[in-house]
Amino acid sequence: MLIKTRKKSEIKECEVTPQTLFEQRRLFIKKAVGYSVAAAGFSLPATALAALKINPFQKDSVSLRGELTAKKHVTSYNNFYEFGTDKKDPAKNAASLKTDPWSVTVEGECDKPGVYALEDLVKPHPFEERIYRLRCVEAWSMVIPWIGFPLADLIKQMQPNSKAKYVEFTTLNDPEQMPGQKRSVLDWPYVEALRMDEAMNPLSLMAVGLYGEVLPNQNGAPLRLVLPWKYGFKSIKSIVKIRFSESQPQTTWNLSGPKEYGFYANVNPEVDHPRWSQSRERRIGEFRKRKTEMFNGYAEEVAHLYSGMDLKRNF
Ligand code: MTE
Repeated sequence: MLIKTRKKSEIKECEVTPQTLFEQRRLFIKKAVGYSVAAAGFSLPATALAALKINPFQKDSVSLRGELTAKKHVTSYNNFYEFGTDKKDPAKNAASLKTDPWSVTVEGECDKPGVYALEDLVKPHPFEERIYRLRCVEAWSMVIPWIGFPLADLIKQMQPNSKAKYVEFTTLNDPEQMPGQKRSVLDWPYVEALRMDEAMNPLSLMAVGLYGEVLPNQNGAPLRLVLPWKYGFKSIKSIVKIRFSESQPQTTWNLSGPKEYGFYANVNPEVDHPRWSQSRERRIGEFRKRKTEMFNGYAEEVAHLYSGMDLKRNF
């Protein structure tokens, strides 16, 4: 079955305030001290969930809601090599990640560099729920109800200057908390980057939660990117640094396999991975394969960013 291309106007946005989610999250985590993270269940108090409002006029997102990947798959079938390379490893091992307190260093070509406590970074931005398809380069996909705010809002807060052409993100580097980093399967820390116009696109989301709850550690707590038109490896998890630069940064997967993982990593059924086809995908939880759509079905929102570019060369 083909997935209908969704229009920007059809994105579902359910609003919840950052204060509600974050202050209650902190409270919740403090109360959960003494329990394992898995046992705590990552839930938010009911009041935070009640703050989610569904807009009944956005019909397409209602149908996308019907395609949601079960939460048990979203939180147990993960790629987060800092906790191991098996899909089940992150859920098993990520309890060792301490997400409170958390700070993010902002540096490079901007007027507001500094070290920001997580709360200060997210407080100015109202949260939304966005149901996005995430398509992994390994040819599987999920549909996930994320909670977050536009990356563009955070970038504006940092006031990049005219030299800022790219924005780079770095994951925490701490082998004690992230045991997978004791093995050199990748060049740690994990780094990803975007061209500034990609980062400013309204689809680019800074996620802090999913399924109405704070992000589980295995999904990239407490702060990660979600870029639904790109292969999943661009959606970097557990971000501790944001840097604005004039030249294109080197990124982890591109460094590890330049012929297999391009800088752009736009979902493109016409450009195969050297070792497998990208024309079809398996939605986790389903048996039958689906056709992969150009830009993962988000062409209307993002194709203009690449007009005139040879997408076979700039893969
Ligand atoms: N970010 C970090 N820091 N480390 C990783 O290994 N894996 C990426 C991306 N972000 C990864 C990461 C890949 S390959 C995918 S498909 C998505 O996270 C998976 O996100 P999910 O586990 O929340 O579905």
